[in-house]
Amino acid sequence: MTDDTQEQQITAAGNEMSASFLAAKKRSDATLAKLEENPGKFTMLTGDRPTGRLHLGHYFGSIRERVAMQNRGVNSNIIIADYQVITDRDTTEHIEDNVLNLVLDYMAAGIDPNKTMIFTHSAVPAENQLMLPFLSLVTEAELHRNPTVKSEMEASGHALTGLLLTYPVHQACDILFCKANVVPIGKDNLPHVEITRTIARRFNERYAKKRPVFPEPAAILSEAPEIPGLDGRKMSKSYGNSIMLGATAEETAKLIKKSPTDSERRITFDPIARPQVSALLTTAGLVTGRDPKEIAEEIGDSGAGALKQYVIESVNEFLAPHRERRVELSKDMDSIRDILHDGNKRANEIANETLEQVREAMGMRY
Ligand code: TRP
Repeated sequence: MTDDTQEQQITAAGNEMSASFLAAKKRSDATLAKLEENPGKFTMLTGDRPTGRLHLGHYFGSIRERVAMQNRGVNSNIIIADYQVITDRDTTEHIEDNVLNLVLDYMAAGIDPNKTMIFTHSAVPAENQLMLPFLSLVTEAELHRNPTVKSEMEASGHALTGLLLTYPVHQACDILFCKANVVPIGKDNLPHVEITRTIARRFNERYAKKRPVFPEPAAILSEAPEIPGLDGRKMSKSYGNSIMLGATAEETAKLIKKSPTDSERRITFDPIARPQVSALLTTAGLVTGRDPKEIAEEIGDSGAGALKQYVIESVNEFLAPHRERRVELSKDMDSIRDILHDGNKRANEIANETLEQVREAMGMRY
């Protein structure tokens, strides 16, 4: 292949990506508009991998929106995706602790278990069983084409496991067992929602033409800006640049104090030329609801020390109620377990019912 054709192909692939992204964004906006009119008609499912604690990026990127949807009256479900932890790592160390801490953070952030079903993969066998018919509806080539799976494999430094290759189909089981029609996610999860739509469509075409079993869910793409880590890179636990929702005020102050800045004294908001100073300003902007530029002007020549002091105070003030609730809730871990047990029980009821409909559609009720 000549360089030119190769380049054309790469550009074509890029365009295709952005065309499907734009289509998804349009669908997301249209669905949100309908949801606002009639929230009770919608079922939301989203979730997290229990690989660690939630940070401010999670809060502004997704948790806040989940709470808003729940409170609007959308039928809400959150999956703690414990089987997704072993897609690209070979240990389940700390998994129980991570799962329980997710429940704590959800609740401290305003998720109400009476309104939102919280559950785990591993406790819902009928959900997992959907994997068998669903796998028959996708080709190996389709699975290999998933860009998120590709980059996760590269990042893991391991060979591609069967689970990593097929977990997007498992994610389709998460979404479809409860017939969710709205799935709030980040961009990286969009290919998984696309394959979910394909699976739902193919299942209905093949087995349930007269009475479709599954909806074709819409991804809901968050409007929130991606919040940078304290060093200006992507916020990630492995970079040590994230403000954890459940950290103490002292831990937060320490982390912010040691975050890198630059040698220019005057504080200005310029994410390209000054990513580190700007990350601090963005963080302060989000937690105070102010414009980062205005904060920069206010601090002006007082320098990075003053900026950090402002970020420390505003972040700790913003998180104080969350942290208080979290500490209070953590005094009774038995109740936290009960909430999970209750969610798991309800999820099993729903999954059993859906699996029964699947057996029926496939002529497998003997
Ligand atoms: N893959 C998602 C993440 O890591 C977590 C997840 C699992 C999920 N199952 C889901 C998200 C179903 C939405 C719907 O961020």
